Amino acid sequence: MDRIIELISKEVSSAFADCGYDASYGKAALSNRPDLCEYQCNGAMAGAKKYRKAPFLIAQEVVERLDGNPLFERVSAVKPGFINLTVSGSALCAYLNQMRTQERFGVSRPDSPETIVLDYGGPNVAKPLHVGHLRSAIIGESIKRIGRYLGHTVIGDVHLGDWGLQMGLVIAEVKQRMPQLPYFDETFSGDYPQEAPFTIAELEEIYPCASAKAKTDEAFAIQAHDATVRLQNGDRGYRALWNHIMNVSVSDLKRNYANLNVTFDLWKKESDAQPYIPDMVEKLKADHLAYKSNGALVVDVKEESDTKEVPPCIIVKSDGATLYSTTDLATIVERRKLFNPDQIIYVADKRQEMHFTQVFRVAKKAGLVEESTKLRFLGFGTMNGKDGKPFKTRDGGVMRLEKLIADISDAVYEKMQENRSMQEEEMRRTAAQIGLAALKYGDLSNQASKDYVFDVDRFIAFEGNTGPYILYTIVRIKSIRSKYEEMNGTKVESDLLPPQNESGKALMLSLSRFAETVEQAYEELAPHKICSYVYELSNALNRFYHETRILSEEDEKKQAGYLALIDLTQHILETSIDLLGFSAPERM
Ligand code: ARG
Repeated sequence: MDRIIELISKEVSSAFADCGYDASYGKAALSNRPDLCEYQCNGAMAGAKKYRKAPFLIAQEVVERLDGNPLFERVSAVKPGFINLTVSGSALCAYLNQMRTQERFGVSRPDSPETIVLDYGGPNVAKPLHVGHLRSAIIGESIKRIGRYLGHTVIGDVHLGDWGLQMGLVIAEVKQRMPQLPYFDETFSGDYPQEAPFTIAELEEIYPCASAKAKTDEAFAIQAHDATVRLQNGDRGYRALWNHIMNVSVSDLKRNYANLNVTFDLWKKESDAQPYIPDMVEKLKADHLAYKSNGALVVDVKEESDTKEVPPCIIVKSDGATLYSTTDLATIVERRKLFNPDQIIYVADKRQEMHFTQVFRVAKKAGLVEESTKLRFLGFGTMNGKDGKPFKTRDGGVMRLEKLIADISDAVYEKMQENRSMQEEEMRRTAAQIGLAALKYGDLSNQASKDYVFDVDRFIAFEGNTGPYILYTIVRIKSIRSKYEEMNGTKVESDLLPPQNESGKALMLSLSRFAETVEQAYEELAPHKICSYVYELSNALNRFYHETRILSEEDEKKQAGYLALIDLTQHILETSIDLLGFSAPERM
């Protein structure tokens, strides 16, 4: 199904052509003077030079040609040469009636669907999931849903950080506390215990303790480093202990992500890429891309057009250790082998931009991926507290995600207490659902790359540009519908009718822009565009609601038409918020 803007452009283009001008001047755009018209075309001004004619004259000719065209209610030429376009209510209505019967409301399938590996989440095993990983999960989940809705194959990979010093720190600390465990007995050849020697709560206490200790206690730091090397070299006992850390950690992570309504197809980890490193390093050397510099093995990646310095990418350090970049490169090799993706998209903190620039360049230079494979980095900004500094708990620590989510639903719950109308159980459930919407919308409504202020009171407000406001709008529609059904004893089964008033028309125009919004959000990896859209659509619905007598309308046909209109609005809103990763309750 064509976008409405394409239909408009088609008509205007053929009018240009009929008047003897190039059809390409007939491209229409959304009006930047919504008080005057809905769409506009600036082609007359663009063509004036070529045709040596006053733009206003060209515009007038085209406008005359469009006179009587059923797509438009009004077309006018405005000096110096704008063509102002107002869509006709009946054409708009026909468009929406077609749209509502289409699969995915007219969003077109891509010509060639792509396979995309989406790398998001990126939590580090043994460290608690904190707000730093929240943004990656929320943004990535939305991008995954948008891509799938459009018809692409999107494979979400959590890409666990399981290969760094944090593992050595935990192992060293466990060894210090429980040296009698068989994992540390080099002569032990039996089966290691099935049961982990720690719970998740203990594990979460062990890591920060070990990390702090390593900063002041040099001997301990060396032990942690040695433990990391030993683990990476495949020590049997250390491996067994590592498995326990993984299992305990991963089941906790899964629970946390489930609370966020975030799911991954793959639970791959940095360690999975390690087997690919040796061959890759050999290839880099054989292709004369990698060379020794101060004992380290590096690849030059700077390019002429760089405006800031891009240092060489270190592949192997002088002590033989590999790095984050090495792992990411090897992961690219692995992903190519397993999925042969058309794109790999990484959602990570924007401070990692240089890292990804280096990695992408090495991957391309060395042919680790095909020339056509797109490697994209979506870097997000920091979530700040009200003081403008990175978000912390009151005592200055990192906030646990679990706590953050609980705090928000508690705050929503408190608010709902004000006019309590539900049983306890439903109220708790609804508060959690609204809280999640508040959190996700509060994040996604900002352009990803921007920092934003985490402000619970603002996020949970029922008015303004917030998640709860969007949910409230949906709930309002649901309630009108059920009252209608109660009154009439039947469901809404009518087509939309042409708009009866200005606010009805505005609502319909907004609905007609659903497909282009989703397509654009996907191309630009920009869920915030869907947020702006649902906000605009909710405003349009609420204005329509206030200016129209819906349930007290006496003309049954008219009333059924209104119901069809709000029914479509509900579907579009619900589909949109599903793409953002949350859902609406029955009532609130
Ligand atoms: N674990 C990393 C971190 O916490 C994020 C991983 C992002 N993905 C990647 N392929 N490097 O910063």
